[in-house]
Amino acid sequence: MFISLLIVPTPANPVCGATVRSDSANAQAFGLFLKEFGTVQVTPLTLDFGAEISGANLADASPALAATCFDLFDRHAVCIFRDSGLDDEAHVAFSRLFGELEMAPRISAAGATPRFACPELFDAGNLDREGRIVTDERRRLINLGNQQWHTDSSFRPARSSYSMLLAHRIPDVGGETEFTDLRAAYDALPDEMKARIAGLEAEHSYWHSRQLVGYPAPTETEIAAIPGARQPLVLAHPRTGRPSLYLAAHASHIVGMDPAEGRALLRELMDFATQERFRYVHRWQVGDLVVWDNLCTMHRATPFDDSRYARDMRRTTVIDGSGLRAQAA
Ligand code: OGA
Ligand code: MN
Repeated sequence: MFISLLIVPTPANPVCGATVRSDSANAQAFGLFLKEFGTVQVTPLTLDFGAEISGANLADASPALAATCFDLFDRHAVCIFRDSGLDDEAHVAFSRLFGELEMAPRISAAGATPRFACPELFDAGNLDREGRIVTDERRRLINLGNQQWHTDSSFRPARSSYSMLLAHRIPDVGGETEFTDLRAAYDALPDEMKARIAGLEAEHSYWHSRQLVGYPAPTETEIAAIPGARQPLVLAHPRTGRPSLYLAAHASHIVGMDPAEGRALLRELMDFATQERFRYVHRWQVGDLVVWDNLCTMHRATPFDDSRYARDMRRTTVIDGSGLRAQAA
């Protein structure tokens, strides 16, 4: 049996205009998640950063689906599944194909109880349990923190591989999410900078990035809940081996370097990595599931009128086992 991945040519990516046919032993299993077209259509947005994928039945949480998606994530780093058709349980089940999931805080820093029955769902929206727009200032500041370039959970020793964000309600205006490709940014660094940063580590703290947007100094309980982590500044991707910068607004300083010098280096790298040429901006439609690879991208929320518009975004976060293994070694 033949199954096909149809790679659609785009002006940005004419070389991908080919239909790739596969008749692997897994073909029967692949067939289970192909919709009636029998084809998963992949539309790359650039040569290797960002792709829109349609035709995959994500509710069929099979290992064959996982294998195909892993390959797509490896190549494109940000994958957009329009009209995903997933409810909360199916969103979690799909996410589990890629590893263990983080649990969302049961009581948020703002003291509000979570809106979702699934403990794996993070609330990245601006609604309370009754579906009203939140007015709590701490909660708004937490969301505001997401408007800085960051990668999810770099402040945890068990950092994250993939985040999977699903749009349930979106504002009429604004509220896009921007992404930047840290593999391409690393490749484009001058050789002297690559040599300078090789082997360096940065300290990442959730509270550092929140304080940058005016969140009050964290309480002892907050620090104990999320103490922070050291991460390499350059990561070889655990699946592809491709080197990438590993940066985020959570990074406060470079380990063993004068703090001011370390901050200046981090700022220089952040500015370099977020240049327009490395970026993709995602304009949401309800039902979109966007999966990004936290180990080689950064993202940020963009502003919208959060006192006027509801934005209901729910996220699962897959844990990167390789980070823990590296630290144990
Ligand atoms: C997130 C995040 C950005 C957004 O959920 O990790 O940063 O646009 N979201 O909601
Ligand atoms: Mn995020």
